[in-house]
Amino acid sequence: MIEVNKQRRREFGDFQTPNELSSKITCHLKQLGFFPASIIEPTCGTGSFIFTCLDTFSEARIIGIDINSNYLNLVSEKLSQIKKSGKVELRQGNFFELDWQKEVEGLTKPILIIGNPPWVTSSEITILGGANIPIKSNIHGFQGLDTKTGKSNFDISEWMIIELLKALNGHSGILAMLCKVAVARKVLIYAKKEKISVFSSKVILIDAKEYFGASVDACLFICHVKPASFNYTCHIYESFDSNIPIQEIGYIDERMVANIPLYKKWRHLIGNNTHIWRSGIKHDCTRVMELLKQENGFLNGFGELVSLEDNYLYPMLKSSDLANNRIKNINRRMIVTQKSIGEDTSSIQQNAPLTWEYLKKYAHFLLNRASSIYQNRPQFSVFGVGSYTFSSWKVAISGFYKELKFRLIKPFEGKPVVLDDTCYFLPAKSHEEAAILLSLLDHPITHEFYHSFIYWDAKRPITKQVLQQLDLKKLFREISYPKLLDILQHSNQNIPRDLLAYKLKQFS
Ligand SMILES: C[S@@+](CC[C@H](N)C(=O)[O-])C[C@H]1O[C@@H](n2cnc3c(N)ncnc32)[C@H](O)[C@@H]1O
Repeated sequence: MIEVNKQRRREFGDFQTPNELSSKITCHLKQLGFFPASIIEPTCGTGSFIFTCLDTFSEARIIGIDINSNYLNLVSEKLSQIKKSGKVELRQGNFFELDWQKEVEGLTKPILIIGNPPWVTSSEITILGGANIPIKSNIHGFQGLDTKTGKSNFDISEWMIIELLKALNGHSGILAMLCKVAVARKVLIYAKKEKISVFSSKVILIDAKEYFGASVDACLFICHVKPASFNYTCHIYESFDSNIPIQEIGYIDERMVANIPLYKKWRHLIGNNTHIWRSGIKHDCTRVMELLKQENGFLNGFGELVSLEDNYLYPMLKSSDLANNRIKNINRRMIVTQKSIGEDTSSIQQNAPLTWEYLKKYAHFLLNRASSIYQNRPQFSVFGVGSYTFSSWKVAISGFYKELKFRLIKPFEGKPVVLDDTCYFLPAKSHEEAAILLSLLDHPITHEFYHSFIYWDAKRPITKQVLQQLDLKKLFREISYPKLLDILQHSNQNIPRDLLAYKLKQFS
């Protein structure tokens, strides 16, 4: 048994596949009628896939590579004890330094590339101070704000699988990789974008808890590559034994969708939504900017009880409050220093001297915020503010929770309620408008519509882009005026029918 310290295991995403799982995978590939002439295991570790491939595909030549020479010695030792070891070539190498096109070109086809690449993200490696990362890493070409707000963080396995797929492009072969479901999807998006010759693909869900003791949405991603084939739909199966897919994802109308049948059913509701979805406020300094109301002041994240004027304090809700419907008695407050992005903050000194002194006291925390969006901005700046932030009524949802739960947010103690940047909302001018928006968003059609776009395994399944797809005016016409009026009357909002009827007419 080889000892790998915890830090190294994390940096190298080192979770060896149990033989039971690798054997299930190779048997599944055989059942598909696939018999490779050559096999590559690009990060072979202690060789789980090498040994099951030797059993299942006894005729194939097998190449195993890993960065860790101790693992290769172990595999070599085990191989020397079995007969067919002459078919296996082991090499110590760094994935990021190998020319994968060349590797693939030199092999007899069809090729199987199989394995379980490291389970770690680029930002985790950066935090660990590690170097196991590709030099040219912006695979999806993120630009501007996206690179600053964390979108450019990626899974190392995603980068590796894309490199391998690029190498297989135009040849005949199968890529079978254990990875996160989200990684499989991103690889497919890349394949479509770069016109990689994919014949078919499928995802089989894996219980990562059972096999790796990890709580991740994991899968086996099988991608069959064949010259001159360009098919980017992918069926998702619940297990190795299921014949009927639970979901069909893929490209349609030049976009990647999460559920093709639902998308086809409701795509006529996509449109230019005149109601714009907004994000909550971003400040990246919870301990200073968020406080809990006490009888005799406000408690900040450092445990300090402070006195502040009311001017810049707003009742606030977080994602978890929306998800758990804790929206009535609000005791959290956010200091909102600006009414619009870039607004001068120096007037706080006159308007609210106590708040100014408080912000000055904690200025170094605000100054040291990692995100570059705060650079060259007035001091104590926040992000994601505009007139919509201060609308008295809102209909909001959390981006993080795996449920479509929209909430109607009323003003609290005479002030508009603000949300943090993990939430999205539609501002509304009145209670009636908010009630109409909620009745539209809570409708089963809306749920089916959004299910065709949402990947529930994603870290933030609900995004502004997804929410914005639905044209509420088209939805209004689809449901029809009389039905909506009926729904609204039974919605416990206590709004007189005449007023609702009038506002609904205006809305349409
Ligand atoms: C998740 S483990 C899987 C090992 C093996 N494929 C299996 O299925 O049991 C990931 C492996 O990737 C190897 N690895 C990590 N970074 C690598 C790199 N840059 N080049 C080659 N191998 C690497 C680690 O040493 C580790 O053995």
